[in-house]
Amino acid sequence: MISRTANRMVSNSFSSLEYEYCEINWDDFVTTEIGIYIHVPFCPRLCTFCPFHRVLYNRELKDRYVKALIREIELRELQGEVEWVYIGGGTPNLLEAEEIGAILDKLREYVRIEDIAIEGKPRYFTREYLEVLNRYDVSKLSMGVESLKEESLDSVERDETGISLIEQIVNDAHNHDMVVNADLMVGLPMQYSGDVISDVTTLSEVGLDQISTYPFTKAPGAKHRRRTTSKHIFEMIEKAADTIEEAGYVRENIWVFSKPSLAKKSLTEDPIEYIGYGPSAFSVAGNLQVVNPHIENYLDSISHEKTMGFKITFDEGFNAWRKFAHRLYDLRVSEDFLSTMPRNIRWVLKLLRLMGYIKGDKVTRKGRYFIHDLTTTVIEKLPFPLGNPVSRGVACMNIFF
Ligand SMILES: C[S@@+](CC[C@H](N)C(=O)[O-])C[C@H]1O[C@@H](n2cnc3c(N)ncnc32)[C@H](O)[C@@H]1O
Repeated sequence: MISRTANRMVSNSFSSLEYEYCEINWDDFVTTEIGIYIHVPFCPRLCTFCPFHRVLYNRELKDRYVKALIREIELRELQGEVEWVYIGGGTPNLLEAEEIGAILDKLREYVRIEDIAIEGKPRYFTREYLEVLNRYDVSKLSMGVESLKEESLDSVERDETGISLIEQIVNDAHNHDMVVNADLMVGLPMQYSGDVISDVTTLSEVGLDQISTYPFTKAPGAKHRRRTTSKHIFEMIEKAADTIEEAGYVRENIWVFSKPSLAKKSLTEDPIEYIGYGPSAFSVAGNLQVVNPHIENYLDSISHEKTMGFKITFDEGFNAWRKFAHRLYDLRVSEDFLSTMPRNIRWVLKLLRLMGYIKGDKVTRKGRYFIHDLTTTVIEKLPFPLGNPVSRGVACMNIFF
């Protein structure tokens, strides 16, 4: 019952959000704890499950993108200390390693950066590629493995990654003191609980620093619909979680497990406030959120020396729910945090405690199903496709979803 109520609340709060497509004044966008997300939309093949903005790689488009991204960094003139940079996609390691370096060099003209992570397809993380990334102080790699089962991968048009390649990347990365994450998806076609257990067992044996287990969500924009129930997926993740924890990993949040030395320094840092560069990247600070346009409109606007985006202003209530949902995702809700929350959220927490979903400041085993459900609903009910916001043509028009 509480799940249904919470899910309805999420859907309702999203449906009242109002977006405006316009030129963004980045001076309005002030944040003290900066993270930077850079979106690279190119892929060699479009996996059918993926809701993120991506296009097939083509050299000419990629070259235009790199130039535009560098110009976007200049136009926005961000200042300050950046805790983390995350280069995501798409398949960011389709860019030349030197291009990644040039982007980081340009950012460093404006800000100081602590930590840099990049995700990508395993086969492009060659030894030479990692050597160049290391020169630019990239310290974390995240590989999209998804599953080690060929039939499941075939059915979503995804290439297979052999475990020996994963092991080689882990070893090469460790030689540069980089840490490595592998993403798995749970709930793919023809993927059963035994397959997920077998995958996490195999992966934990090759020295990965982090393993992420994402439930297959049918986020707006993805072509492939999942066939199994959410409940079954959550059960598979919880069983896999036991195996991963037995192998010595610590649960960071509902879907991510890290070696204890890495705990709380994960590749998926708490992304409450961050600045996004590149097509369809999100920026969130204070009560403002901006989503950049997709690649064609992005290249066009940067060529006119403008940074356009979909802008939304959250009200205080929405923002409080967003922060609360982040805490639940991390499976910890401290008293300090609660004291900053409005009364209705403290009331919901009381209810969650009564139901046995939260004990002290920790989400219980029983409560995790609720968190899986809530987080998946947030992703699935986003008011527009993650990957491809549509401008409806007219600049500065209000769009109601
Ligand atoms: C933005 S994707 C990019 C992955 C990387 N570029 C690659 O192809 O290997 C990051 C991760 O999100 C997860 N993901 C993508 N689509 C998903 C979906 N529909 N449901 C659950 N997880 C998904 C996958 O685990 C994926 O590795």
